[in-house]
Amino acid sequence: MTGELGLQTYLKWIEPRLADLLPEEDEAPSPLAQAMRYSVLSPGKRLRPALAMACAEASGGDPLRALDAGCAVEVVHCFSLIHDDLPAIDNDDLRRGRPTCHKVYGEAVAILAGDALFALAFQILGASNAGLDGVLELARATGFHGVVGGETMDVLAENQEITAEELRTIHQKKTGALFACACAVGAQSVGSPAAGLLREYGQQLGLAFQIVDDILNETSSAEQLGKAAGSDRDRKKATYPALYGLDRSRELASETIDRALACLEPLPGPTGVLKNLAYFALQRSK
Ligand code: IPE
Ligand code: IPE
Ligand code: MG
Ligand code: MG
Repeated sequence: MTGELGLQTYLKWIEPRLADLLPEEDEAPSPLAQAMRYSVLSPGKRLRPALAMACAEASGGDPLRALDAGCAVEVVHCFSLIHDDLPAIDNDDLRRGRPTCHKVYGEAVAILAGDALFALAFQILGASNAGLDGVLELARATGFHGVVGGETMDVLAENQEITAEELRTIHQKKTGALFACACAVGAQSVGSPAAGLLREYGQQLGLAFQIVDDILNETSSAEQLGKAAGSDRDRKKATYPALYGLDRSRELASETIDRALACLEPLPGPTGVLKNLAYFALQRSK
């Protein structure tokens, strides 16, 4: 590694910046501000902002230039988690080791906190170094062709037989799209010509990450994950273990990570963090 800053340094910048970008908790309507802060500032892994910063650095740029763009993607991610946990979608009570947003603030405020975070993300991104390109990138990754479309397909696939291609599409949209977006806006923040390669790295990483998420839902515990385990099977969700079994799912995740790693070879800057995040996606226990 050639003087690369590293994940821990990124995380030290990300946490306080997220806190600064949110409304103060006593700002009216304060239950809304509190629900937003509760959901965003709970202990998440911050992979998406870390990816944005690492992609800026791997492009040969200053990772700090990608901090706000990465935080915008984290804010959309938190919106998607609040809505994903709602009774009408996955009906989960635990997220990041804590009660879900709707359990603490009620369904109405949780829905509205998600809406407000959705809007806030675009406000942050529009003012960031990623500019209009970044806004367009996040809009595509979040809406019909991205997270929201993928979440819809995921809900509609419950109790259904679906093909391998349909399952891959769900995972690419509901998870891969935002990983890809984080990488692309990181590259755009430093004017990198490598946004396309990094977007592809992020798409593959996100797909592998979601396959491993499916595996962990089957093999781990709520204590370990900080969110429900065994729930996919109970809800008859379309998952990789359900379609392929655990061993083949692990092989597919590993092959997907190999494709992600191959995207990093031509990059001009240090890629150690991006490589480590790829290994982490496969080996993680939470
Ligand atoms: C959870 O994402 C939702 C999926 C895409 C599987 P993360 O595992 O990145 O969640 P946090 O942000 O660390 O809570
Ligand atoms: C992950 O959804 C993608 C989102 C848009 C939240 P899942 O339902 O598969 O993930 P968890 O298990 O709730 O984190
Ligand atoms: Mg879900
Ligand atoms: Mg869920």
